[in-house]
Amino acid sequence: MNIILLGPPGAGKGTQAQILKETLNIPKLSTGDMLREAVAKGTEIGKKADKIMKAGQLVPDDVIVSMVRARIAEADCRNGFILDGFPRTLTQAQFLDGPGAAQKIDKVIEIKVNDKALITRISGRFTCAKCGAGYNKETKPTAVAGICDNCGSTEFVFRADDKAETVAARLKAYNDQTAPLLPYYREKGILFSVDGMADIDEVTRQIRGIVKKAA
Ligand code: AP5
Repeated sequence: MNIILLGPPGAGKGTQAQILKETLNIPKLSTGDMLREAVAKGTEIGKKADKIMKAGQLVPDDVIVSMVRARIAEADCRNGFILDGFPRTLTQAQFLDGPGAAQKIDKVIEIKVNDKALITRISGRFTCAKCGAGYNKETKPTAVAGICDNCGSTEFVFRADDKAETVAARLKAYNDQTAPLLPYYREKGILFSVDGMADIDEVTRQIRGIVKKAA
């Protein structure tokens, strides 16, 4: 099954994609993670993307589409995949419908969260610098302040684009360029929505219900 998780920054796409990946045993394809990896490695794509991401804007479609095309062609995607953060524009969505992709999307799951909660979630997010475990000051703190539950490290990192001014730009990019995908997929009859304001387990339960339903 090929699934798209759609929603604004901080909606919980990455969190749910990780859970779903383990349940369905199919890979999660996160364009945000791919770009951050490219930035960390200093590749050409990474150099191009770094400034754009720090400004909270979208990386050009041609760069993203070629990255996703290559990833979908890998063997582990043969039995399905979960797209997290892609598509974000109509051009990207049309790529998935076109002959170049050769992959039918079965379900698009929208995670709905209000703007106030998104800002709280994003501004509270931090990650263990050593093992990558994700936390949130408000919703998922470490059991002992300043110590990673998973590996005991005391070093944490914050995402460069999680600053308040960048978050505003990211939300604007979502509303202007990505939200139009909702009617696009609704018309195709493959759009489903979940209440992303619920706690993580409840959102997972709702998503599992949608995934199990016959197409
Ligand atoms: P990307 O990495 O995709 O970021 P994003 O879409 O802005 O989403 P986030 O990762 O911030 O949030 P999320 O929805 O995954 O939520 P999460 O699970 O982390 O993209 C970054 C940038 O890369 C873009 O701005 C753009 O520049 C570029 N880019 C990427 N893809 C692109 C594309 N296709 N085209 C062009 N440019 C592209 O959760 C957030 C926090 O909330 C966490 O702390 C989590 O623990 C907590 N949380 C999650 N669910 C719940 C819940 N139900 N209740 C309470 N807390 C929760």
